[in-house]
Amino acid sequence: MGEPMISLSGVSKRYGDVIALRNVNLEIKPGEAFAVIGNSGAGKTTLLRVVSMLETKFSGKYVFKGIDAKKNPEEVRKRITMAFQNPVMFRASVFDNIAYGLRIRGVNGKELREKVESVLESLGILDLADKNARKLSGGQKQRVAVARTLVIDADVYALDEPTANLDAENVRIIEHTIAKMRKKGKTILLATHNLYQAKRLADRVAYIENGEVVEVNETDKIFESPKDERTRRFVQGDHYF
Ligand SMILES: Nc1ncnc2c1ncn2[C@@H]1O[C@H](COP(=O)(O)OP(=O)(O)O)[C@@H](O)[C@H]1O
Ligand SMILES: [Mg+2]
Repeated sequence: MGEPMISLSGVSKRYGDVIALRNVNLEIKPGEAFAVIGNSGAGKTTLLRVVSMLETKFSGKYVFKGIDAKKNPEEVRKRITMAFQNPVMFRASVFDNIAYGLRIRGVNGKELREKVESVLESLGILDLADKNARKLSGGQKQRVAVARTLVIDADVYALDEPTANLDAENVRIIEHTIAKMRKKGKTILLATHNLYQAKRLADRVAYIENGEVVEVNETDKIFESPKDERTRRFVQGDHYF
């Protein structure tokens, strides 16, 4: 199957007394769209933060494209970019908020403008380019956050609940843009508590509960014939938020 893009072995992460990830073993292949589903508090965000090396204090082994992530965190951060669920906008225009990540990577001038405008267009927010990003609605901010991530030429895009609390039209636009990135061969790691979103976008799905990866399976299988009783309960809607 070739070398995995991401390989976690026995990864655990705690915050004080809280165990956010328990002995996670996971492999994500290059070019696949991989969704992590589970209730609020299950550990989805923590998993994305570890994979993005925004959390560097965890136990276990993480190998990214054959390199030891703990020994080369900067290398991983260059190749993975994460969109946060509650994005913080800089006090600047939408354009500059999106351009920031490119500028710190040395992209300038015409190339910069073209890249930013292309992602703005794809997300239907080209008309907001000059607006103060702090003054946007929640849905608009969410699109800017996704744009800020996707504009960067990375290997992996980690998207944390990219469409939480959005209306159907915004969801459609963002999902379409994610699907386009996947078609380009990018690896997508998506955290969502929206089962339908996982169904629409993912090749494989991991169900996570209480910090534990309960089951990893192809998308159809996890929904139609889950192996674990806990997964079955979640996908059949017998769960609490
Ligand atoms: N920075 C933190 N400090 C303390 N506890 C945290 C922190 N981040 C997450 N947690 C805890 O870790 C667990 C997993 O959280 P999280 O990864 O955010 O779950 P999810 O994204 O699935 O809702 C929760 O119990 C949460 O309260
Ligand atoms: Mg979360």
